[in-house]
Amino acid sequence: MYPALQKELDTFERRTPKSAEAHKKNLKRLPLGVASNYRAYDPYPIFVQDAKGSHFRDLDGNEYLDHNLCFGALMAGHCHPAVMKAVEKRLSTGTMLGMPHNMEWELAEEVCSRFPVEMCRFGNSGTEATMHSIRLARAATGRDKIIKFEGGYHGLHDAALVSVKPHPPKDDFGDIKNPKAVPGGLGVPKASIANVLIATFNDLETVERRFKENPNEIAAIILEPIMMNVGLCMPQKGFLEGLRQLCDKYGALLIFDEVKTGAKLCWGGASEYFGVIPDMICLAKSIGGGLPLAAFGTHKRVMDLISDHKVFHGGTYNTNPVSMAAGLATFREVLTRENYAHVDKLSAKLTEGYKKTVAKTGIQGYIVSAGVNGALMLYPQEIRNYRDWLPIDVDLWRHYWFGMVNRGVMCQPYWWDEQWTISVQHTEADIDKHLAAFADIAGSLAAAQQERLGAVAAH
Ligand SMILES: Cc1ncc(COP(=O)(O)O)c(C=O)c1O
Repeated sequence: MYPALQKELDTFERRTPKSAEAHKKNLKRLPLGVASNYRAYDPYPIFVQDAKGSHFRDLDGNEYLDHNLCFGALMAGHCHPAVMKAVEKRLSTGTMLGMPHNMEWELAEEVCSRFPVEMCRFGNSGTEATMHSIRLARAATGRDKIIKFEGGYHGLHDAALVSVKPHPPKDDFGDIKNPKAVPGGLGVPKASIANVLIATFNDLETVERRFKENPNEIAAIILEPIMMNVGLCMPQKGFLEGLRQLCDKYGALLIFDEVKTGAKLCWGGASEYFGVIPDMICLAKSIGGGLPLAAFGTHKRVMDLISDHKVFHGGTYNTNPVSMAAGLATFREVLTRENYAHVDKLSAKLTEGYKKTVAKTGIQGYIVSAGVNGALMLYPQEIRNYRDWLPIDVDLWRHYWFGMVNRGVMCQPYWWDEQWTISVQHTEADIDKHLAAFADIAGSLAAAQQERLGAVAAH
């Protein structure tokens, strides 16, 4: 470990002893000491006391400007007043019913009028939304196989946990023109993996190859329109349109996993942003305004499979009134055109500010942003797929992240495959604070990078 990074880690440990202590307690009963693997990192994760608006406090009382926002699930920011009012009202009038109620059609109307779908069903997590979408696509086409992109993340069910983070030499992931399916951990059945075909993001040839190799066997292509499991990787011009055409040509459905992009890209999500219309859309995270809420939507003719009792969908917690009240408040009072204008302005300011500092200090990297998400990408040129993303200098990235955290800014979730989120409760002053922290750390980041690149060149 190089000295500047060591210094940031020492500062981190000095500032957060209560998190270290809490993590030790958690370790006894929770694997990795956390409730989701994504929350674990070295030396230990920050434990949170409370959160409000654009900020949270850790157990030691340190304040942070929050651009993690629960892995991008809080475009509303913490405890948005409209969401809290709706939730509080609901808490004393029934939190779980297991029976239909009026908020269901109201929220379904909101979803179907904003996104290009005719009907939807609700759930609680992104995992559920992608799982049910894939099952519906298989039922609608009578085919078992799906195409997903190497590096794409769609949750934790068996069809999704394939080639999420394959890493040679541990994994043999094949040639970039013919990527192999690699299980995302033990316990994923071989039969599931056999039904998931892997293609390379931004490479239509690898997609068409799968269709040709598996005639009449592919039910759907599932993808995030912007790959947000590798920092932030934009679709190149014509890529999404090409996928639409391939699906039409080979009779497969196009599934946009909009768990992240749906609420955060713009008012109408990726279909509005890119002008490409998928067959199915998966929503979760920021549509719940801070409560667990997900939805999947598609054409009526596909949803008729559920109406006709051919595909089964259920769930005890589906449309629980608390989440639905939060969802309605979020659609009507948070995800408004006015608020998109506000966050777009902040996003432009943050992006421009980062770009200036990167140019001034000579950091080898670039800034990419879309909607309220963005990231500092520590690469010499724009990444186009998972394999471009792999060779990151992890220590340098940790230097950036811990440096920012020590300056009171959680610039994004921990892990270099994530990105920042701006909430509707963030202000211009928040963005100034974020940029000031980055300007403060950028010099030492640039110096460390130069040294490391120099050492590599000398080898
Ligand atoms: C694109 C995408 N799809 C699906 C999921 C899974 O969502 P959840 O964690 O709510 O199950 C995530 C979560 O990060 C995601 O980013």
